[in-house]
Amino acid sequence: MAEEEPDTASDVVRRERFSGGPARGFLSSMDDDARIFAADLAVDRAHVVMLAEQGVVGDDEAATILAALDGVESAGFDTLPDGEDVHAAIETAVIDRVGDVGGKMHTARSRNDEVATCIRYRLREDVLGAVETTLALRESLADAASDHAETVMAGYTHLQPAQPTTVGHYLLSYERAVARDTERLLDAYGRVNRSPLGSAAFAGTPFDVSRERTAELLGFESVLDNSTDAVSTRDFLVEVVAALANLAATVSGFAEDLILFSNKGLVELSDDYASTSSIMPQKKNPDTLELVRGTAGDAAAGLNGLLTTLKGLPRAYNRDLQKATPHAWDAVDEVTEAVAVAAGAAATATWDEDALAESAGEGFATATGVADLLAMQGVPFRKAHEMVASAAQRAAESASGETASGASESGADYAALDAAAEAVLGDSLDAYVEREAVEAALDPEASVAARDSAGGPAPEAVAESLADADDAIETDADALAREREALAEADERLRAEVASYV
Ligand code: ARG
Repeated sequence: MAEEEPDTASDVVRRERFSGGPARGFLSSMDDDARIFAADLAVDRAHVVMLAEQGVVGDDEAATILAALDGVESAGFDTLPDGEDVHAAIETAVIDRVGDVGGKMHTARSRNDEVATCIRYRLREDVLGAVETTLALRESLADAASDHAETVMAGYTHLQPAQPTTVGHYLLSYERAVARDTERLLDAYGRVNRSPLGSAAFAGTPFDVSRERTAELLGFESVLDNSTDAVSTRDFLVEVVAALANLAATVSGFAEDLILFSNKGLVELSDDYASTSSIMPQKKNPDTLELVRGTAGDAAAGLNGLLTTLKGLPRAYNRDLQKATPHAWDAVDEVTEAVAVAAGAAATATWDEDALAESAGEGFATATGVADLLAMQGVPFRKAHEMVASAAQRAAESASGETASGASESGADYAALDAAAEAVLGDSLDAYVEREAVEAALDPEASVAARDSAGGPAPEAVAESLADADDAIETDADALAREREALAEADERLRAEVASYV
């Protein structure tokens, strides 16, 4: 195989015609294509092996091309000749190395099925990387939840103190949400993992190709059957980016909570996840979490950009599709990084149990428990609600006076409840329920313990949720390992096939 003088003037696709012009750089996707360099080499190898097996090219021709591909791989992406994209550049490099026989590599395919296959091939490992990061986040949430299964804190709605809960229950609320993100990513993965290769430009090929064989060599689970659909669709990008945007939105809420909680002194971030001010050296700022929060905006914008690019595109391939792909790379990179940071911040944050306990009873946060208690004695809940509302009003009005007189908060609350019972229910509170029970309902810890319904914050309910979460994390980790194993096996298979020629 004689090495020929490389013609670096233009890639093979455009020699003779369309060899340059002012739009040359504009057309090029080379910068983004570094990411699919390895994918394209794998796709080329699988295609050439299949062509040889089907008798479309001779074994010796396949051997020459496969050896050239090895050379191109060792030389690296940066040594590729100028080209409109990585597909053309690699083909050019192969032809430059081995001459005309290299031109047989592109038999029975098009860049249209080639690029779609490359994107799917590469995206698989990226999606699995994102899945792995969701598992890391879920693990740190579950670990911290287990450490704080009984740490009482205020729960908020509308950012107002609402009912006491526990740090464990709060953290598991995010673990459960991120578990669905894992599920969505794995679900999308199943549809990414299908092969468009062998569709050629869109209308198939007269060559006797085996689409199943290239799919198998590349580790794809199945073949996308309609050749026009196979090259046209980028719905798999939409699914993945949507799943990532959803994940980013979930995690942005967690970041926001931690920012607020650290502002209230309820949690302290590790220095590793904080920053300071360039002028105010005493400051410890939650910058990393602010960037995690901000990532959700980028992910949403990426999803929007992707869908806007795809909307109204006619069949089959249109160059607009080249602009769709980077939205997916950006989203998967940024969101995966943000989730990893959130996982680290969650794992290293210190929850201040005293401050949390103090916050738990703030704003008459146990009031609903008193209404529940009265309702359990047969008072219609709506009536009990009205009575407690009236007590809350009284407590708020007398708050400054009571503080001055030094009365305990729950004593003040009991007095207010008793007065409200007289006014709204027509009898003193102890006519309905023992004072002890009311005092217990007013105690944040007892209040949490009482709410032991399935999925609730009571310690035993949290313990059950924790066990479920641990099981689910393990199941998902197994699924991730299986998918990775399948990819590694396919990689081995392809290497072995190539080795049998070269
Ligand atoms: N660089 C192109 C892309 O990313 C590859 C496909 C070009 N195909 C074509 N027919 N112009 O979509």
